[in-house]
Amino acid sequence: MIETAAQNTPSRLRAGREPPRHANRGGVVIRVCFVCLGNICRSPTAEGVMRHLVQQAGLDGAIEVDSAGTASYHAGELPDRRARLVAKRRGVEVSGRARQFRRPDWEHFDYVVAMDLSNMRDLQESVPTQEHLKKLRLLREYDPEAPRGASVPDPYYGGDEGFDDVLDLCEAACRGLLEQIRRAHGL
Ligand code: 4NP
Repeated sequence: MIETAAQNTPSRLRAGREPPRHANRGGVVIRVCFVCLGNICRSPTAEGVMRHLVQQAGLDGAIEVDSAGTASYHAGELPDRRARLVAKRRGVEVSGRARQFRRPDWEHFDYVVAMDLSNMRDLQESVPTQEHLKKLRLLREYDPEAPRGASVPDPYYGGDEGFDDVLDLCEAACRGLLEQIRRAHGL
């Protein structure tokens, strides 16, 4: 778990050496989209954490990060205030406006990363072809400590501590996802 700024200890996310600068080999950009239900709590948190890690690694020109929701009812809204606050305390920016995941997104992104099994099922139902299905993953698959099929739980109806948990789970999994992308794409 990473420490919070409130505990007056530096966050591992925040603590950064000068990032190494990697050439973007051949100009190929790897595109990742995190998907939850509303796109106001979990997926924008994962997006913020992943972007932070990508920047620390000096790979911001090589990996594009976005998020979306399976539902449209929060479209246009900022991320939940609690998600923004918890992230800010750890030096992570959670921003952007909510949007619904759309059919063209299956084409655009290389990795479509769901937060829970319900998001997975909704995405499976919208997939244009079986080929696109290969892009779909569950976020916590990338966390070596997580049990098989583990989800990032929905914090929306709970207390603030749920948002801290979401950030911890996203960080552990995004570290694994970044490693996997680096290995798979030679970055
Ligand atoms: P998210 O959380 O899917 O992580 O953005 C939720 C946000 C809103 C609702 C449910 C979950 N809602 O029911 O409005």
